[in-house]
Amino acid sequence: MKEPMEAQETERQVRTVDHSCVEQVHIILPMDVNASFQLFGGLLMQWIDVVAAVVARRHSGCRVITAAVDHLAFLAPAHLNDVVVLLGRMTYAGRTSMEVCVETFVEQMDQGGTRKLVNRAFVTMVALDKDGKPTLVPKLLPQTDEEKAEYEAAKRRREERKKAEKMHTGE
Ligand SMILES: CC(C)(COP(=O)(O)OP(=O)(O)OC[C@H]1O[C@@H](n2cnc3c(N)ncnc32)[C@H](O)[C@@H]1OP(=O)(O)O)[C@@H](O)C(=O)NCCC(=O)NCCS
Repeated sequence: MKEPMEAQETERQVRTVDHSCVEQVHIILPMDVNASFQLFGGLLMQWIDVVAAVVARRHSGCRVITAAVDHLAFLAPAHLNDVVVLLGRMTYAGRTSMEVCVETFVEQMDQGGTRKLVNRAFVTMVALDKDGKPTLVPKLLPQTDEEKAEYEAAKRRREERKKAEKMHTGE
């Protein structure tokens, strides 16, 4: 007899990237900044985690847990009173894990509202069933050329991550 997860595999749903995209907006307040009036990195990481979790919950329909954050890069500071926009989208779905890219922008009102990229992070979320065990997620259907390229890049990151884990654990 098939294991439950294998049985579900044949009936896996498919979802697009658009299905789960998230946009979150903040104005940077005095309580959000350090002594240089720049946004606290740790607070931004919290916002990124929430955006990634909502993307993963929309994609999977399950509760999720953060497994890893890769390539988190603070590319430029954000300052007091800036408008900050976080955009989260699915880049890859494995069996029970999902990679979400979260990009953070400062909206430059004095430059016609153009968005300056200040942070990018790749967050791996794992879907959990009611017993707290990893559970199958829908497949991701990348549609545009950009989504297809991101999907392939995410697959490579996943392989690199697995290799690095083996090196660290000596397996
Ligand atoms: C993440 C966690 C649920 C994985 O559990 P596990 O028993 O290792 O489960 P599995 O080995 O079946 O792995 C499940 C999936 O997670 C992925 N995964 C596990 N550890 C990972 C890691 N460190 N980085 C990236 N992906 C990881 C696996 O590759 C697998 O993906 P797949 O199903 O798409 O192939 C477990 O390690 C955990 O609970 N970690 C603590 C998470 C936490 O406390 N987060 C902070 C608070 S939100």
